[in-house]
Amino acid sequence: MMKVPPRVVAQFRKPCGIFGHLAGLIMATRPSNIARNVWTLELLDLSPRDHVLEVGFGPGIAIRYAAHHITDGLIVGVDHSQAMLRQASQRNAAAIESGRVRLYCQPVHNLPACESGFDKIFSANVVQFWDDPVRVFKTLRSRLAAGGVLATTYMPRHAGATLGDVRNTAATISAQLQAAGLSRIRVEETRTQRSPMVCVLAVNRS
Ligand SMILES: C[S@@+](CC[C@H](N)C(=O)[O-])C[C@H]1O[C@@H](n2cnc3c(N)ncnc32)[C@H](O)[C@@H]1O
Repeated sequence: MMKVPPRVVAQFRKPCGIFGHLAGLIMATRPSNIARNVWTLELLDLSPRDHVLEVGFGPGIAIRYAAHHITDGLIVGVDHSQAMLRQASQRNAAAIESGRVRLYCQPVHNLPACESGFDKIFSANVVQFWDDPVRVFKTLRSRLAAGGVLATTYMPRHAGATLGDVRNTAATISAQLQAAGLSRIRVEETRTQRSPMVCVLAVNRS
């Protein structure tokens, strides 16, 4: 398996410059990355008319997968990296052109005011970068429709991560979601050849 150089690993929080561009290419092609994005969207059981938000879309592979399934709805994405906005926009040019996809270079704490009422909101390997996850989850809850679902996926990238490690992270995320007022919290787990991963799903009841 290819070893990712430390200078590129340091970019995953907010890719920029040439190493950030490389980080995006790795995220777009690494089988374990693709697997975690596809798995997250499978758990969300997308419908053609869904109105969906992705936080931290990176190179835009989940956006592309979602656009394939959401033929008559809307997919919105935010990521605070210009480099990722560029890659994701290129990867999804046709869907953006058709108006089914809207991508923004914004941090999660500053979501575009016009975007709300989502049926589903998700993130994959972004939660670990948030300083105040409860605050972020409250913000995301305010953008969900009543009955809308929030999915938070985490896959550790360090060697030797165990199922116990991801279960501990899932317990932390579950407590944060509860503190943010979300309910019907459930944890799903699976593994790729490289690593176990978890997705914590929660519902906005109000
Ligand atoms: C490890 S990458 C994961 C990308 C993509 N979700 C995937 O699984 O392929 C994390 C992404 O989240 C973005 N990100 C991190 N913190 C963010 C924040 N506070 N607001 C918006 N985007 C953020 C980064 O710029 C980066 O593109």
